[in-house]
Amino acid sequence: MSYSAKIGPSILSSDLSCLGSECVRMMECGADYLHLDVMDGHFVPNITFGHPMVECLRKSVGKDPFFDMHMMVSRPEQWVKPMAAAGANQYTFHLEATSNPGNLIKEIRESGMKVGVAIKPGTTVEMLAPWANQIDMALVMTVEPGFGGQKFMEDMMPKVSSLRRQFPSLDIEVDGGVGPDSIYKCAEAGANMIVSGSAVIGSDDPRSVIALLRTVVVEAIQKRSLDR
Ligand code: DX5
Ligand code: ZN
Repeated sequence: MSYSAKIGPSILSSDLSCLGSECVRMMECGADYLHLDVMDGHFVPNITFGHPMVECLRKSVGKDPFFDMHMMVSRPEQWVKPMAAAGANQYTFHLEATSNPGNLIKEIRESGMKVGVAIKPGTTVEMLAPWANQIDMALVMTVEPGFGGQKFMEDMMPKVSSLRRQFPSLDIEVDGGVGPDSIYKCAEAGANMIVSGSAVIGSDDPRSVIALLRTVVVEAIQKRSLDR
């Protein structure tokens, strides 16, 4: 088993006028990486920011924090090079947004970034599975993408369990409505990369929330390795 528990706050629900200091604050509170939500108002009904913002953020936070770009955009092909140049570490595109995932995976790798593939609640694991051996991370959305602060969809957990069974060492991320109430289900199903927006950012004590999320996932990973 080569995966480990990692917690990545989604800074979507932070004070966007202070994004740089919010990212630094999250890293100081124990975040393992930062999950940056890019929305284009087309693939999802909302817009956030693009690569110029990522470039500024990289300058502001330094070279170390890992940027997981959640690309909720149509035509994800067009932002691979600009995001790599801006300092992104991982490019997570939506399977629903491209007709040629194989080529996109190759382009992302050639640009020096890690590859993530995301699926919306209506997309099955069978659609993703053929690509799983070529990617670094699978993202199972636990809300419809587009907005922070939505309710966790527990009925996505069978997708996580199925992926974990088929791909024992793949990084599996969950995103949407994940916090202290829903983390147990995610960890038990086999998720190891945990995105949490409002539950972390909105807390008076983000450090404790991040630590709790990580502890639950670490314990589930330990239990899984003992059960094998
Ligand atoms: C939703 C985004 C999420 C979101 C998570 O489309 O992809 O990353 O910001 O926020 P919470 O944890 O509040 O659902
Ligand atoms: Zn996201």
